[in-house]
Amino acid sequence: MLKDQITNLKNEAIGQILEAKSLQELEEIRARFLGRSGKINELTQVIPQLTEAEKGQFGRLINETKKTITEVLQQAQDKLQTTERPEIFFDPTVPGIQPPLGHLHLITQAIEEITAIFEKIGFRRVRYPEVEWDWYAFGGLNFPENHPARDEWETFFVANLYHGKFGRGLLTPHTSSGQLREMENNRPPIRMLNIAKCYRRQSDISHAPMFYQFEGLVIDENINITHLKGTLDYFFKSYFGPDRQARIRPYHFQFTEPSFEVDVSCSECHGAGILASGEVCRVCKNGWLEIGGAGMVHPQVLKNGGLDPQKYTGFAFGWGVERVLMMKYGLGDIRLLFEGDLRFLQQF
Ligand code: DAH
Repeated sequence: MLKDQITNLKNEAIGQILEAKSLQELEEIRARFLGRSGKINELTQVIPQLTEAEKGQFGRLINETKKTITEVLQQAQDKLQTTERPEIFFDPTVPGIQPPLGHLHLITQAIEEITAIFEKIGFRRVRYPEVEWDWYAFGGLNFPENHPARDEWETFFVANLYHGKFGRGLLTPHTSSGQLREMENNRPPIRMLNIAKCYRRQSDISHAPMFYQFEGLVIDENINITHLKGTLDYFFKSYFGPDRQARIRPYHFQFTEPSFEVDVSCSECHGAGILASGEVCRVCKNGWLEIGGAGMVHPQVLKNGGLDPQKYTGFAFGWGVERVLMMKYGLGDIRLLFEGDLRFLQQF
């Protein structure tokens, strides 16, 4: 009986507390139930009539009930106080919430890594204009006017920008435009690393209209293909891992002679094309992965840069930063690199 009465009182109090709309109302509820002449104390008046055992039990029950009502009251009060008088809760000494700290973008990380690798063997990172003249991007690199090879570069020309001697203004379609700039600015020995944004009319899973290339250029007396091959091997081992190798295949570019396509040995089958199990390697199918172009600087290009091709020779290579980076991490879609999706970026 008594027990039921207490439970009912408790429920009644909680019900009213949850309904309360103001601190004033809560104060009234407190007085009504917990006050000196409140409902709980009223119940305790029966205590003298109880047996010793009952007294103990009843006392515990009353204390528990008071405690529960006090807690619920406190919670309701806290809640109303923050909404009613938020200024009371502004404490300027509480430490602020730290904004999340990001990190360098994957492409920037790759650029820094590539730069460090080449700096170790004496290359110097340079920057040349992003909006360039035709001469530096094409004309001076042996691309004849209207030659179909120019279509491969799918260039963005800048409207109404023209130089009497150097031709139309354009967004650099490749970092090879830095070759002549470098020769004009420096005498051999030249060891240039030009990393820059490039622009072409292209967009698919492996091409973006804006992307990065890194271009190496070495010019000195007696530079030959073995220097090129050694440099490529060094880069692949440093960037991809010590078991990787370079392979060069004959190709054609306007501004190098001879020209090559450069491949790196596959990480899975190490250039064999077949796995130990006898299956054809799914990553490369033939043992090698294509990286980009390279070659020995064309004598005419040396001349255009003001150097004597009888005295100097050189090699050059130009590859996509995103391409090597995607190969390193096994990424399948270049667009991931430009979307800024934190779920992707936070993995690096
Ligand atoms: N510029 C070429 C391209 O964008 C790549 C290239 C090929 C650069 C051969 C070179 C080179 O320096 O020697 O496709």
